[in-house]
Amino acid sequence: MRIDILTVFPDMLEGFFNCSMMARAQKAGLAEIHLHDIRDYTTDKHHKTDDYPFGGCAGLVMKIEPIDRLITDLKSQRDYDEVIYTSPDGEQFNQKTANSLSLLENVIILCGHYKGIDYRIREHLITREISIGDYVLTGGELAAAVMTDSIVRLIPGVLSDEQSALSDCFQDNLLAPPVYTRPAEYKGWKVPEVLLSGNQALIDDWEFQQSMDRTKRLRPDLLK
Ligand code: ADE
Repeated sequence: MRIDILTVFPDMLEGFFNCSMMARAQKAGLAEIHLHDIRDYTTDKHHKTDDYPFGGCAGLVMKIEPIDRLITDLKSQRDYDEVIYTSPDGEQFNQKTANSLSLLENVIILCGHYKGIDYRIREHLITREISIGDYVLTGGELAAAVMTDSIVRLIPGVLSDEQSALSDCFQDNLLAPPVYTRPAEYKGWKVPEVLLSGNQALIDDWEFQQSMDRTKRLRPDLLK
């Protein structure tokens, strides 16, 4: 899968995608993540990516031309399944969205900034608008990082044990059961006996019950 991220702050994302699982996925050739600086597609000498809004409101709006040039350039090289815009007024991102996006070949994510982007970009170039939650960030970069991380880790082979993506929180609308590692007792705090029993059927039952109990207690909305 290939993800092209369009931003005015590529440095914000560079480090994130060069670490841990995201770096591993790219090195293994399972995911390609390309950062594009929108400023590179300006033609004026000040490399302006924003301008004052028509109508006299406060704030700056991202200009249409550099973004259109960049998207047109990318589209001339390959077909894209989605051109996503990160925005607090988009549809809410969740595990289901991550699952479906992880099946796509080529995706563009445009990070918004300032007061927004010229609305014509949303009308003519964007196929999907996604929010990562009901709060406002200073820009879409963190939203693009959150979405890309949760999408890429679902690509088969990215996690060393594929099972671990299948047993994630939210995969069955259930929260994951608690996990423990050695030592089996620390300061008198014990790991549940059943996990040391070696009886897989009992362990599976216990884990399922724990998932149900935690979901009922912490996220009852998921069971509706
Ligand atoms: N840009 C600013 N806030 C955002 C949010 N909550 N989700 C996605 N993009 C954003």
